[in-house]
Amino acid sequence: MTPPVNTAITPSLLPTYKRAPMELVGGEGVELIDSEGKRYLDFTSGIAVNALGYGDAGLQQAMKAAAEGLIHVSNLFRTAPGEQLADKLVQLSFADRVFFCNSGAEANEGAFKIARRWARGIGGPAKHEIIAFRGSFHGRLFGTLAATDRPNYRMPFRPLAGGISIIERDIEDLDLALNAETVAAVILEPIQGEGGMRVLDTEFVRRVRELTKARQIALIFDEIQCGLGRTGRVFAYEEIGVTPDIMTLAKPIAGGLPMGAILASEVVASAMQPGDHGTTFGGGPFVASVALHVVDRLSDPRMLAHVREVGAHARAGLEAMMERSDRIRAVRGRGLMLGIDVTEPAAEVIARAREAGLLLVSAGDHTIRLLPPLVITAADVTRGLKILEAALAG
Ligand SMILES: Cc1ncc(COP(=O)(O)O)c(C=O)c1O
Repeated sequence: MTPPVNTAITPSLLPTYKRAPMELVGGEGVELIDSEGKRYLDFTSGIAVNALGYGDAGLQQAMKAAAEGLIHVSNLFRTAPGEQLADKLVQLSFADRVFFCNSGAEANEGAFKIARRWARGIGGPAKHEIIAFRGSFHGRLFGTLAATDRPNYRMPFRPLAGGISIIERDIEDLDLALNAETVAAVILEPIQGEGGMRVLDTEFVRRVRELTKARQIALIFDEIQCGLGRTGRVFAYEEIGVTPDIMTLAKPIAGGLPMGAILASEVVASAMQPGDHGTTFGGGPFVASVALHVVDRLSDPRMLAHVREVGAHARAGLEAMMERSDRIRAVRGRGLMLGIDVTEPAAEVIARAREAGLLLVSAGDHTIRLLPPLVITAADVTRGLKILEAALAG
């Protein structure tokens, strides 16, 4: 076994993460490089962020060009890149209006505010509840944590924000929970990421749409992990054939720079007035210029076709592996958002794969996520799956 590199993590950092021991210093294509020069094939993409991989020439050029211009001026003033990016996202989606922020959790918090503002306008203050589903992950701030189905993340921080509850992914439960007088919004991930790469049943999501529409309840799709090309469509909702009232994006949108976005239809967005929401950094010219490049690349039909093709190759490889190995219980996901359930603790398989040069991330105790850069080739997928299979065999 190679000795771990630089295990001495500084005590200056708050110990909220169990970090892998090696120190990463560089990257090239779909590989990361540590301080001892060891290369790792990356099936994490910085948790679904680095869609274009590492050292991408177009992204570097976009960053250099953006750095020549204004970095930040605040939302007191107009700047072109943010306006162009909003136009682009509107053009690509169901939405009419966009608000930019700085992370996924912040986007969902803002989405809750927009939904409540709109619902209050039609139903008064009683119409304020937000409903999320079993298996959900919407973020770690107080509102989003209340909508996140992870008891160990929630318990130490109670009381969480009020008026937010989690119900089963069951249409009868939903029917009972969706009181038109009291519910403002329903939030769901079309494909649950941290909850185990679970593709929600299409009929279920369609029924959620019907019920929310009939009862004047806003439907929020959290596409922070599954949106922007990851599934082989620009947005995962395209596959379901229904549109939400609000959608949140983040992760890959600005090539690794922090950015989130809330997209909304005119009906709900029109409830928001100057002063109702804000953030100092949101949609600044530097980050928005870079995001314009990234969104163009990720919405290119050739990129989407590539993700579908390589995603199908990865899925077929995982299914074949499941046939051969009794250590895989299930294969799930869509495009290059894939997960496997394993019989032993996911962390142990992940540690062995890392030693052998493959980076993976878990989703719960027994699920491993495969989230490679979207530019990965079929050959690199095959290479990674071989390492994974050997790591599973222990
Ligand atoms: C579906 C989903 N929503 C929200 C979030 C929170 O995003 P952030 O970590 O940028 O706050 C995540 C992050 O993993 C996510 O996967």
